[in-house]
Amino acid sequence: MEHNVRQTKHSTSRRSFLRKGLVVGGAGAIGAGLLANGLPLPAFAEEGRASLTRGDVAILRFLAAAEILESDLWQQYNELGGIQDSEVPGGSGSAAYIKALEVLDEDMPQYIHDNTEDEFSHFTFINAYLVFKGADPVNLDKFRTLPSSKASGAQHIGRLTNLMQLSVDTSYWTRYRSRTQNPDFGDTFAQAIPGLSKGQFPAIPRNDGDLAPANHIQAIANTAGFHFGYIEQGGSSLYPTLAQGVTNLEVLRIVLSIGPTETAHFQTWHDKAGNAPALTDPTNGLVFPDLNASGGEDTQTNLIMPEPTVFLSRKFPVVSIIRPTQIAGSGGAVATIKSFTADGLFIGQSQEFFAVLNQLAGQADAARRG
Ligand SMILES: [Fe+2]
Repeated sequence: MEHNVRQTKHSTSRRSFLRKGLVVGGAGAIGAGLLANGLPLPAFAEEGRASLTRGDVAILRFLAAAEILESDLWQQYNELGGIQDSEVPGGSGSAAYIKALEVLDEDMPQYIHDNTEDEFSHFTFINAYLVFKGADPVNLDKFRTLPSSKASGAQHIGRLTNLMQLSVDTSYWTRYRSRTQNPDFGDTFAQAIPGLSKGQFPAIPRNDGDLAPANHIQAIANTAGFHFGYIEQGGSSLYPTLAQGVTNLEVLRIVLSIGPTETAHFQTWHDKAGNAPALTDPTNGLVFPDLNASGGEDTQTNLIMPEPTVFLSRKFPVVSIIRPTQIAGSGGAVATIKSFTADGLFIGQSQEFFAVLNQLAGQADAARRG
């Protein structure tokens, strides 16, 4: 009892000390320990005192860059296929493209809008936090040089990413259905839509000529549907992979709080892509097969939750997990940029763009906890 009382007294006095310390800290550094409305935010301010390691800054800076890139591509999708409003302004929509997207789910425009808004919030937050901690935010504006779609509904502004010549890797589909393999063990996975990984295909209409015939614009919407899943499974692996290199607990909290929203996106897109109708694009021969035709689990469309598979060691029981997550493995920052490059997202970008991105990625992958 005596012991308990002492403990309580101790923790009370420690709390009041911290509170006093915070007031002094807040007065001494206005803005550092205060919210925008002037109210102190104790847990945040307390944690915020610990400085970030070079590795923490590198991880956050790479994630800011990745989120800027994601925002740029999602913005292009939203202008033509989403909902344009005060939350996600820009563009005026393409009726034929939206109609084709709605074949996958009638709520596709809402989901595209929400995914876009989320990505903007991610990089805006991470950059604001970097500034708060005295680190440099990331700005890729000088690389907004790629062309916009000429289809009615798109803004005519410079872009960071290309969505009109994509080679989409759909191996995530079989990777998340495998019960025996894991990319962290060096395993590789079959393409769900083999044609999409060969050649270059638009995921948004390039111009109004792409709005017909019906199976062509549907193929473009199908491509987008599988590309959404590809992008967001990347984020789903990137965050837990980089989290393992984080030192500061508050940075870990940021990474662990943003990362799973990428997985929430992935889960939605994984489900919707399964509704993409089987067809052949009459203009280029791109085939979307019936994924349920084989009767096998590797492509079954309703298996959208991760199947349990091997993790850490084959001696352990299988477990349902995000894959990959091996630090500096295929889920890391350098691997993400390599994958985005193979996807065609950066077609037309400058050498300087790749140099900047690869430097940010290399520094993030090199971060080590401690
Ligand atoms: Fe994001």
